Amino acid sequence: MLQLRDSTGPATVVRRADYTAPAFWIDTVHLCFDLDPAKTRVLNKMTLRRNPDVPAAALRLDGDDLNLARVLVNGAGTSFKMDSGQLVLENLPEGNEPFALEIFTTCAPVKNTKLMGLYVSNESFFTQCEAEGFRRITYFMDRPDVMASFTVTLRADKEKYPVLLSNGNLTDSGDLDDGRHFATWIDPHKKPCYLFALVAGKLVCREQHIISRSGKEHLLQVYVRPGDMDKTEHAMQSLIKSVIWDEARFGLPLDLERFMIVATSDFNMGAMENKGLNIFNTKYVLANQATATDVDFANIESVVGHEYFHNWTGNRITCRDWFQLSLKEGLTVFRDQEFSMDLCADPSARAVKRIEDVRVLRTAQFPEDAGPMAHPVRPDSYIEINNFYTVTIYEKGAEVVRMMQTLVGRAGFAKGMTLYFARHDGSAVTCDDFAQAVADANPDSALAKLLPQFKRWYSQAGTPRLAATATYDAEAHTYTLNFAQSCPATPGQESKEPFVIPVSLGLIGAASGAALPLQVHGQSNVGDSHLFVMTQASESITFEKVLEEPVPSILRGFSAPVVVDYAYTDAQLLALLANDPDPFNRWEAGQRLALLIAIKYIASDAGGSSAIGQNDTYISAMRAVLRHPTLDAAFKELVLTLPSETYIADQLEVIDPQRIHAVREAMREQLATALFEDWQWAYAAHSQNGAYQPDTLSSGRRALAGLALNYLCLAARSSGDAIWPGKAYQRFKDADNMTDRFNALNALVQSGHALATPALARFHSLFQFEELVLDKWFALQAGCTDRGGQVLPAVRQLLKHPNFNIRNPNRARSLIFSYCSANPGAFHRADAAGYVFWSEHVLELDAINPQVAARLARALDRWKKLAEPYRHAAQAALQRVAAKADLSNDVREVISRALA
Ligand code: ARG
Ligand code: ZN
Repeated sequence: MLQLRDSTGPATVVRRADYTAPAFWIDTVHLCFDLDPAKTRVLNKMTLRRNPDVPAAALRLDGDDLNLARVLVNGAGTSFKMDSGQLVLENLPEGNEPFALEIFTTCAPVKNTKLMGLYVSNESFFTQCEAEGFRRITYFMDRPDVMASFTVTLRADKEKYPVLLSNGNLTDSGDLDDGRHFATWIDPHKKPCYLFALVAGKLVCREQHIISRSGKEHLLQVYVRPGDMDKTEHAMQSLIKSVIWDEARFGLPLDLERFMIVATSDFNMGAMENKGLNIFNTKYVLANQATATDVDFANIESVVGHEYFHNWTGNRITCRDWFQLSLKEGLTVFRDQEFSMDLCADPSARAVKRIEDVRVLRTAQFPEDAGPMAHPVRPDSYIEINNFYTVTIYEKGAEVVRMMQTLVGRAGFAKGMTLYFARHDGSAVTCDDFAQAVADANPDSALAKLLPQFKRWYSQAGTPRLAATATYDAEAHTYTLNFAQSCPATPGQESKEPFVIPVSLGLIGAASGAALPLQVHGQSNVGDSHLFVMTQASESITFEKVLEEPVPSILRGFSAPVVVDYAYTDAQLLALLANDPDPFNRWEAGQRLALLIAIKYIASDAGGSSAIGQNDTYISAMRAVLRHPTLDAAFKELVLTLPSETYIADQLEVIDPQRIHAVREAMREQLATALFEDWQWAYAAHSQNGAYQPDTLSSGRRALAGLALNYLCLAARSSGDAIWPGKAYQRFKDADNMTDRFNALNALVQSGHALATPALARFHSLFQFEELVLDKWFALQAGCTDRGGQVLPAVRQLLKHPNFNIRNPNRARSLIFSYCSANPGAFHRADAAGYVFWSEHVLELDAINPQVAARLARALDRWKKLAEPYRHAAQAALQRVAAKADLSNDVREVISRALA
């Protein structure tokens, strides 16, 4: 058994199959807080009753890091015992009558560096309770299926903590003795305790009243530190758009009189959907054109949307247990993706968003699904639930929901959502309940017919592979595509049953480039796209009246989260890149062309940039896209960006990170020099954009100008030309927005030009009081292209910088994670110094914040695939971490799975 220092007891494996309904229900909770950083007193008065549907049992209340002072049952003292961190009450009143339980505890928020439960950040109080943080505030049944009505009274020094917030409506407030004041909040909705929140501190707010469709008035507020008010407009606008969108698309209105967002700079994750009081990482709230990039603006819109949409998918209907996490997260990511797409002005911008989402899935989730932490979208067991807030639960979970929408149609999916709410509003349910509702609302759909098999997407881990071959009969004018699916073994799952795979297909004339009309035998529909729903291990589909030899466009729009293996020739990929009406596959063709080249040179013996050959067809194809008269800039930027080192690595059996890095860099240099004039044109044509607006169209233009500048500075590096670095420096100085300024700085830094040094210094002095911009400054240096090993010493130097603070998760991520997790070419060093750095910091962080440490621990997930000498060195680093006696559950689980 694993050893733990946590007061919650030794690490135990929690299993989905062991779920039992709670022995008690908690109907009401009245929490009264006397807030003090060193010693906060919490009086918790509950009414409970036995759950008549289960056998009588003791009441077990979870607790962690609490000092217990008093327990009263119906006003009288009672006996209790402690058992693995739980407070156990055995002598409770018999019968089904409600009884009162009063618990008085204290805790020390200022010492709470884990940032779970109640903590202090910049002299204000914040809470984070999901998944199991509420037990660090008071003893409670800390599980999502126990839903209670909350009343909260906050008392604190009025001068230091003028703002006192909690969930729901403010019902009372006023002054107390000795400079203190109080506020009482009542949440009209029952909720599980993980949605509880409080905030107290010196904050200011932007507020706006809105009237929703039904005519109800709502107050929207965005709370930030004084001084940040000028960065709240975009978050407010994003919130208003979210309210409008959920009502318009799904008929889901805002159910609260007051909806608050509060920003804090110390936060483990992105944001949290506490009922009516969302708490956000500042990174996903604060933005103005001087400090935030286009990407930041887009992320804020989508995270504000995500948390707001949880109000229905997560809060009104919540999870029965944490194995069902994707019930709310997969669905809500799907909803925020759709929200961002629906806000796009045109189909091309929608496609760009889709490509970006798929890129995240493939560079982060596919490796997870192939590594030691692979788990199903609905896991079967965990040791530490915080380790399961993963790209699998979130992004793959969203793909599973998207496939349901594909199978029942957009209108059918909306009907499914309506039935889901009609059945389950106000309760805590499972992934099965959701899938059942969507299927039942569409009884004639393929989803309804295939539901048990479709649900394998929830139970089986691993990324399926779809192997395709094709035969064209030029005489009979038939074209047959043969598909075979397989799914690699994952931990605990040796063999897999076939999945339901919706494969969106099209055919392009190899010679004509035309989108060919599709005629499937026995079916009347003729269009130029067809949805083939694969259910067997192998299956084929034949198209008739195919008058010319086609190129198959497989998995349009990335209609399922699978890898397609089809032996495309260069000529076929060029045809798709030039002609596919599906923008996703058009982009994909360009990526495949680049991958073919990368893989060829990675496999070849010769090293160095001179060894990558001419690649003329690829270069001219890229030129044609760059110069294309009608494609939009954002799409061009995606096509002209090479697949990442991580994605290339994921295609290989054995990973030599240095080799991948060298080949990809050589390819970048080739694109830079061979297209030099085209990049000059692209920069000139896209760098003047008028008054700054973070809309998709002008963001796309800035992104392409930024990429052009990057390549131009890279080309200048080989030619020794000083003009483009000079122009980049000028741009860096004069830019009126962070996107252009940062892109110019990035171009100088990544090309390793001497002007990078003064530019970085100037950037620091300009933004030394802007925490989020300093994060960019650290991240840029830690993520810099390595040329002879200079990055690690620079990172070590930055650890000593006065602005570095390992306790702040954003800052730790910006320096340590940017190096270990996002810069493979610099991290995987033959001398193992990167791994030494990694193990030191996993251990250092673990003593401060296990959740953050466990994320960093995952940087070596794929160590078994590394070539030597990396593989052995990585294993040794993992073993050094494993040897530490008092690791957190979080880090222990990640490391033991990696070494298993
Ligand atoms: N539910 C939050 C979201 O919107 C994430 C909270 C995760 N918190 C944690 N401690 N793991 O995605
Ligand atoms: Zn979420």
